[in-house]
Amino acid sequence: MNEKRYTVITGATGGIGSELARMLCADGEPIILACRSICKANELHCTLLEQFPEAKIYVEKLDLSSLTSVREFAARVESLDIKIKALVNNAAVIAPCFSTTEDGWEQNVGVNYVGVWELTRLFAPLIDKGGVVVNMVSLTASFSNIDIDFLCHARMGFPIEKFKRLKQYGRSKLALLLSTKEMSVRYSHLRFAAVDPGIVSTSMISMNRWYDTLADIFFRPFLKTPQKGVLPLYRALNDDSYSRAVVYLYKGKCFKRPLPKDIERSPMVAKLWDQTTILLQNSIR
Ligand SMILES: NC(=O)c1ccc[n+]([C@@H]2O[C@H](COP(=O)([O-])OP(=O)(O)OC[C@H]3O[C@@H](n4cnc5c(N)ncnc54)[C@H](OP(=O)(O)O)[C@@H]3O)[C@@H](O)[C@H]2O)c1
Repeated sequence: MNEKRYTVITGATGGIGSELARMLCADGEPIILACRSICKANELHCTLLEQFPEAKIYVEKLDLSSLTSVREFAARVESLDIKIKALVNNAAVIAPCFSTTEDGWEQNVGVNYVGVWELTRLFAPLIDKGGVVVNMVSLTASFSNIDIDFLCHARMGFPIEKFKRLKQYGRSKLALLLSTKEMSVRYSHLRFAAVDPGIVSTSMISMNRWYDTLADIFFRPFLKTPQKGVLPLYRALNDDSYSRAVVYLYKGKCFKRPLPKDIERSPMVAKLWDQTTILLQNSIR
């Protein structure tokens, strides 16, 4: 077995993910680029090898909008016979209009919550004791709420005229934040952090609207660069001083906080976990 301990980065082709990949290669850390587009991932791989010829990098296909792809990815990584020290759940979408994943979930919920939940369930036993799972969340989660019908609506569909992209994205991130708490209890051999990078100038903030060009000129220059936006994520990965789940934020500098009390105490933590388990049960290997 290769004794190097790898960090898995989902969405490594994105703004924050590619910056993290570069920083870890600079540190001599081996990585797995888990990407929806193999073509983009191969480009990133080449760029990283040009900069860091000694870097240890695997490129693997992962599409979080497909539970089959999630399971195939986990199985391929397991067969690599390598040690895993961290899983960075960085990939996400803001779906511009209502659409569903291969498995019938509303896209934001399917990719940002259900796919990540399943990936974490499959990876938790593969990660070395003391390893870390980082879930990328968002400020939008704090303006969102979800109730017991959240998953059923995301599964069965809801009136399309009620679809609001940021609202649905925020809900998916709130669901991920709530499950970060439950994951930290269930997978107690690992450390869990939720990271909110603030508003970062990446493709994620494009609204796919006519005013994008104007926003790019007048708004983007004032946003955080991916080089800054990645910092709380990098800190969460490298800080081994926490055992309970924590939140990392970046507001001018990095802050570490316990999970908000309303998340810690929310009855939705357990309900959401149980519901997700039941809804995925039919498709669990
Ligand atoms: N940017 C911000 O202001 C901001 C604020 C708060 C939180 N965040 C969070 O930070 C994380 C990184 O975002 P970013 O700003 O770097 O966005 P980004 O540049 O748009 O990167 C998103 C990444 O996710 C990948 N992805 C999308 N759908 C996927 C799927 N179905 N399966 C696998 N991968 C998929 C994308 O792949 P492709 O390259 O193939 O598209 C891309 O690599 C996200 O979790 C985001 O929610 C960002």
